[in-house]
Amino acid sequence: MEPGRDGTSARIPGPRGEGDGLADIVAAGGLHNYQLKLHADYGPVVRFRLPGAEAAVSVADPVLLEATAKIDKRPEKLFEFLAPLQESDNLQTIPAEEHTPWRRVLLSVLAARPSHEAHFGQFVTLAIELADRWAESASDGPIALQQQLSQLSLRMICDYALGSGLDSPEQAGRIVSAFEDVLTEQLARLYQVDLPGTDQERGVRAQRALTYLRGIVDGVLAAHQDGGSPTVGSDLIAALAAAGQLPARIRDTVLMTLLAAHHTTGVAISWTLYLLAQHPDAADRVVEELARVVGDRPAPDYADLKHLTYLNMVLKESMRLYPPGPYGAREATEDLRVGEYTISAGTTIFYPIWAVHLNPEYWPSPEVFRPERFAAQESATRPRLAYIPFGVGPRSCEGAAVAMIEAELVLAVLLKRFRFELAPDHPVIPIERFVLWAADDIHMNLTLREPIPS
Ligand code: HEM
Repeated sequence: MEPGRDGTSARIPGPRGEGDGLADIVAAGGLHNYQLKLHADYGPVVRFRLPGAEAAVSVADPVLLEATAKIDKRPEKLFEFLAPLQESDNLQTIPAEEHTPWRRVLLSVLAARPSHEAHFGQFVTLAIELADRWAESASDGPIALQQQLSQLSLRMICDYALGSGLDSPEQAGRIVSAFEDVLTEQLARLYQVDLPGTDQERGVRAQRALTYLRGIVDGVLAAHQDGGSPTVGSDLIAALAAAGQLPARIRDTVLMTLLAAHHTTGVAISWTLYLLAQHPDAADRVVEELARVVGDRPAPDYADLKHLTYLNMVLKESMRLYPPGPYGAREATEDLRVGEYTISAGTTIFYPIWAVHLNPEYWPSPEVFRPERFAAQESATRPRLAYIPFGVGPRSCEGAAVAMIEAELVLAVLLKRFRFELAPDHPVIPIERFVLWAADDIHMNLTLREPIPS
């Protein structure tokens, strides 16, 4: 009898070997290539060694992933690098009974239309300011997309999470640079990157920046508690306070939101512009759609976004080919049946999001950029979890709706204004650095597409 049909379990296949698995990953040229190779060699469920996880199982089939979709636990060790940023336990790994109400509060703001509409006007202002700056310097040479768009996304999410009272450009600039100080140090430690200065000097600088950021959140919280002037309000902070979350948890949540929101959205926009630069027909189609829906206005209104259907398909196809968060992970809380296999309680379940998006069974010619894959009819033929740029289940991304709005708006503003052409002699090499980053950024030459509307 075939294993599994009678309730028995087949042994999960995978490579043999010693050590923590890092050498195999390096030899394959990175975790993504390693995942592709593992699944090509061993099938959709593979046991492998992953640094930070004693026993890991990767699942690359969207139908089999369903069996894992309700797990509400992340493996602590894999996420412990985020712990120093937080005072009230690691939000990535807090237990389900604490996580569920916290998530509910986040979603009540981040997934709610009134909140999107309230912040949309400021998002538009920031996107147009960037486009104006680019228009002025378009002839000065290529633009480093990732760096500039991540900064724009950070500026937008600061505004969202901290409220419009922080609109003095100087203060906003200080917040952005303090956050960058914290993050640069944190990522340098994680990826063992050498930075100027001694460990101690950098540690002090990062700690000072963190204290400054926490003070900013406290200021917004205090203003809210004093009666909440609308100019300093933050609907996110107000909702967390109303739900009885303690100040330390509120500070952590704001920092975690800034962290989770900005590089991800920044690279999603950058990779989309990168793909469109190589597919001018698709870029022209986006521009035609923008002319039809947005006309002479420099930016769409919130209500226009739902009519930008081709732009939406392009963004989705870009996040399929370059998922900003290329991996996820859970810890099995009980023995779990996945197809013909049993994954034991305590095992790390690895989500190879990038490999799932390239699974040829559900994505014919997976390497080809074809936005039409996301037309409603084609989408309806695929299993739900064939496309998971925002993760899976109760720990999936709470900011997905904000991210889509922000990315579509910024793309609309930029594509109306500019033609993008890849700068020669700047190879674009994807590299996993917390998000899916281009190693030496994505350098683009810009030309104005149309006069700036009066
Ligand atoms: C294109 C942009 C973005 C992408 C691709 C993305 C993707 C992801 C992914 C893959 C995860 C892990 C999900 C999992 O483990 O199943 C995640 C978590 C998270 N994201 Fe996003 N994200 C984006 C933007 C944002 C934004 C704009 C926000 C906030 C406004 C945000 C807030 C969060 C939070 C708070 C978590 C932690 C979820 C939890 O532990 O409950 N993300 N995101």
